[in-house]
Amino acid sequence: MKKARNKKPQKLWGGRFAGATDSGVETFTESVSLDWRLWPYDIAGSIAHARMLGKTGVLTAAESGKIVAGLESIRREIEAGRFEWDPALEDVHMNIEARLTRRIGTAGKRLHTGRSRNDQVATDLRLFVREAIDGLIVQLEALGDGLLDLAEREADTIMPGFTHLQIAQPVTLGHHLLAWREMLWRDRARLLDARKRVNVLPLGSAALAGTSFPIDRAYSAKLLGFEAVSENSLDAVSDRDFAIEFCGACALLMVHLSRWSEELILWSSPLFGFIELPDRYCTGSSIMPQKKNPDVPELVRGKSGRVIGHLNALLVLMKAQPLAYNRDNQEDKRPVFDSYDTVRDSLHVLTGLIPAIQVNRAVCRAAAAGGFSTATDLADYLVRKGLPFRDAHRAVGRAVAYAAGRNLDLKDLSLAELKRFAAATERDVYKFLTPEGSVAARRHPGGTAPDQVRAAVRRARRTRS
Ligand code: ARG
Repeated sequence: MKKARNKKPQKLWGGRFAGATDSGVETFTESVSLDWRLWPYDIAGSIAHARMLGKTGVLTAAESGKIVAGLESIRREIEAGRFEWDPALEDVHMNIEARLTRRIGTAGKRLHTGRSRNDQVATDLRLFVREAIDGLIVQLEALGDGLLDLAEREADTIMPGFTHLQIAQPVTLGHHLLAWREMLWRDRARLLDARKRVNVLPLGSAALAGTSFPIDRAYSAKLLGFEAVSENSLDAVSDRDFAIEFCGACALLMVHLSRWSEELILWSSPLFGFIELPDRYCTGSSIMPQKKNPDVPELVRGKSGRVIGHLNALLVLMKAQPLAYNRDNQEDKRPVFDSYDTVRDSLHVLTGLIPAIQVNRAVCRAAAAGGFSTATDLADYLVRKGLPFRDAHRAVGRAVAYAAGRNLDLKDLSLAELKRFAAATERDVYKFLTPEGSVAARRHPGGTAPDQVRAAVRRARRTRS
């Protein structure tokens, strides 16, 4: 951000003030160091407002045109990095307005007719959040597609499924990856749903009570691509539900990414050895030469804490505010901006990393074969032979204890040994005691069988848009 070096400009609201603002107060109250990045939205909002005022005759066509051209030249100035942001002008809104007046003279002073910074900032922030959502949706879809491709590739890869982080039952890696994709797709739906409530125009609410000028809010909404205009001016200038919903969706999304990261970290530990992360996504240790650390997933996991904090910050920011606008709301920027930046960067890095993981299929399969992971399959087998499930469960439990005492797996027990626990056991039992048999048996929609994984990938691709 380029900062102004010039001496103090006049405050745009300075009329009723005799003394200058305390310099500490100026620093304490300014927001331009953060909200300058709202400039594309502020300019778009101001252009729409000026055009609307021209259309309704509040401004002459010449004034309106001059303002629009002036704002467009300021846009180019900012894009070129030539705009000087001045904290003495408080925020992005007054920086741009002051520059406009310096550029085009009196017409610039008419821009603020029938509006307030209160409806202006609410409009800007909604435009920011709307664009943020649209960007995140594109990223979510790309990452989701990457997961589908990987799930298809690993549809037959067998690994242990866990509960309580204990080996539970064999699953396919493809199925596990599709579970991640489900989380991601709910995040996408949540953002799309929130977008409907984001995309409502507050402009026209002015400070809190509306304006005495004959404005055309539907026209402003149309120019800015808003689907509706806000119903109540008091609510519109004070409401930050849309920001809370956005941060809520971001926080939950980060919770998901954090959970995946945790798994990537575990799986890539030599103690698991399920996957190898690509070198370009890892870092080393300054002291231990052998180390290859999963810093990227660790940082995603770590950053999720900040995004969860932002949601809390916004909820607390709003919780005791009386209607309508209060300056407290200026504090909404950091949570919203940082939530977006963090989610965007995390999605970006995982979209590169996840498809590049190398899967050690033999290690995964060996792990899935241990831990008596097919015990449930044996119980199910006995049920099909006529035993009530509870009796089958008990019989298999005793067989497991017997095998564990001899350092054997269930499949290593002879038929005679198995029959000791359940007489109904027959020679065909062994095909159910392999991880392959176990996953293949779960062949209903939503199950882990390789064919079901492939079908789920196809379904997901079909309903992708
Ligand atoms: N910088 C302020 C914000 O972010 C803009 C609105 C200020 N309005 C006011 N009346 N002081 O909320």
